[in-house]
Amino acid sequence: MIEISAKTKQLGIIGYPVEHSFSPKMHNYISEKLGNDYVYCGWEVTPDRLEAAVNGMRALNIRGINVTAPHKIEVMKYIDKISDNAALLGSVNTVVNENGVLTGYNTDADGFCMSLEYEGISLKDKDVLVIGAGGVSRPACIKMLQRGIKSLTVINRTRSKAEKIAGDIKNIMDKDVCTDIRKSRYDIVVNTTSAGMEPQENVCPVENMDFIDKDTVVADMIYNPPKTLFMKKAEERGAKTVNGLGMLICQGIIAYKLFTGSDVGRDMYKIIKQELFLQ
Ligand code: ATR
Repeated sequence: MIEISAKTKQLGIIGYPVEHSFSPKMHNYISEKLGNDYVYCGWEVTPDRLEAAVNGMRALNIRGINVTAPHKIEVMKYIDKISDNAALLGSVNTVVNENGVLTGYNTDADGFCMSLEYEGISLKDKDVLVIGAGGVSRPACIKMLQRGIKSLTVINRTRSKAEKIAGDIKNIMDKDVCTDIRKSRYDIVVNTTSAGMEPQENVCPVENMDFIDKDTVVADMIYNPPKTLFMKKAEERGAKTVNGLGMLICQGIIAYKLFTGSDVGRDMYKIIKQELFLQ
């Protein structure tokens, strides 16, 4: 157990709701393993109290916070600086307090890419299909393009949202994004939808999965349940699958480095996955 004293530095997560967050468990585990004198809590913050919560961070000299739904966009109004990356992605999930100056970062999409790397999956020169165009889709698309994928296709139940992402990416990065399935197969298929997660556990985000074969890697951003129906069906087609736990861990690892300066390498990633999440 970490021994908390008056010198212990404070970290935490704000969200509404927040009680199911894994972040306190994970950050406290890392601090304990590395012998860092930090404690990490969960704070439920209603939207009308977001500004007060951020000012409370200044008043109490809290070192850093993670920010989860529904505050990731709104929080940008109340902090002092926004990293180029968070500005590009349009949301903040990490705020660091440097002598009273609050800077916002976004570690979600980098966490996603890092988790693929840690699972031995390279993005370089790959044909990638992203299913879904909600909040997590656009940042992941931008990061995968930055990491040198060969082509990107985004499909969505509501097609106009996929087209919006394609238009944004053309404006920001001058890259072409396809919004329908034109290839017979993809190297990497990413599910960013909520199909497969409670209350849609028995739902698959797409009906036809012909574009998945034994050499396809399927990455589902859902981690609860650990194996979605989509992953099961992909495995029946011989594909390798990974769930969203790696992304959850890696976004935390990157935030932890911003908070504390400590590097948490791949070995610790594996330990967290096994010891803390039994996967
Ligand atoms: P958030 O912004 O929090 O990610 P969201 O905007 O509701 O949440 O996005 C959820 C994504 O899951 C969307 O791409 C949604 O498709 P629509 O844009 O058509 O709503 C997708 N989604 C949710 N349930 C789905 C289902 N049963 N089949 C296919 N896509 C689904």
